[in-house]
Amino acid sequence: MPDRTTTLADHVRGRHRDDPGLAADLEIVLGAIAASARTLSRAIRRAAFTGELGLAGNENATGDAQKKLDLLANEAVVAALASSGLVAAIVSEEEDTARRLGTGKGARYIVCIDPLDGSSNTDVDGCVGTIFGLYRRLDGAPEPTSRDLLRRGSEQLAAGYVLYGPSTLLACTTGQGVSGFTLDEDRGEFLLTHETLRCPPRGRCYSANLGNLKGWHPHLRKYVDYLTEKDPGGRRPYSLRYTGALVADLHRSLIDGGLYFYPADSAHASGKLRLMYECAPLAFVVEQAGGRASTGMERILDVQAGSIHQRVPFVIGSVEDVILYERFLKDGGPA
Ligand code: AHG
Ligand code: MN
Ligand code: MN
Repeated sequence: MPDRTTTLADHVRGRHRDDPGLAADLEIVLGAIAASARTLSRAIRRAAFTGELGLAGNENATGDAQKKLDLLANEAVVAALASSGLVAAIVSEEEDTARRLGTGKGARYIVCIDPLDGSSNTDVDGCVGTIFGLYRRLDGAPEPTSRDLLRRGSEQLAAGYVLYGPSTLLACTTGQGVSGFTLDEDRGEFLLTHETLRCPPRGRCYSANLGNLKGWHPHLRKYVDYLTEKDPGGRRPYSLRYTGALVADLHRSLIDGGLYFYPADSAHASGKLRLMYECAPLAFVVEQAGGRASTGMERILDVQAGSIHQRVPFVIGSVEDVILYERFLKDGGPA
């Protein structure tokens, strides 16, 4: 049996020996996110006993009905990041505006976070996740400015996700590849279990809400025809895998190859997913794992945010699969 003893903190220190100041900050901020993930992992598993299933009765800024667990998750990440003292503000799916945290000189970071991704799954005991991205503040003004908050994903210092599945797994990057840590519930620690996560160049599965297919660009409908027809080489048809939680579907693509997409449709010109706390962090992770993420036309990490809850069309996963999707979208098929 392999000896699993490397903690998230050990790993971060090891990766950033050349910059002990940055290593110390990353250790604290990622440690805070890991601490909130431990709290949340337990809260999700105990929700049927504690009365935390079901709706909270409000809507968030992007019009989603909030679940009680959405609010609990948001408060867990706010509390953990506030106590770090290093985070000036968070941009959260569950907050209408950026929420101010630390006010001291040390509060030099911004965290973008989807506290509970896939929260429609909570009442059906399905997988859910957390998605996060970390930026250094640019302006020295006492209050975070829009220059601090509205960023390009390529400026992220770190990003990752937590998947609350049969086990709780935290995958993250600090710009030097992607590693995965599984929560050891006996020790209460995330321990390194996946030293290097690499996304295969091509897969055999796709994830998308086909209920929206009739509203998609005709080229994308052709793409789905292509994926689902038999080819003599035996690589197609692709299998459909869609859980309703982006983190879970993306994690499958990262491990086994394949792609996830949520395009624009006739009623939603920018699709559904939010740039700052869903698409940009996952794009950083997937690129660091050798994969690719775009709007179908532009690299996600190059998109400059114009507002904190901005939506973008999204495709992410294996590099060859994503390139083929982009070709279909542009030209209606491979050249
Ligand atoms: P959230 O629960 O954070 O609002 O995110 C839900 C997202 C994503 O996780 C998932 O892939 C997608 O929305 C599902 O949307 P549809 O129900 O439209 O398929
Ligand atoms: Mn989400
Ligand atoms: Mn969410």
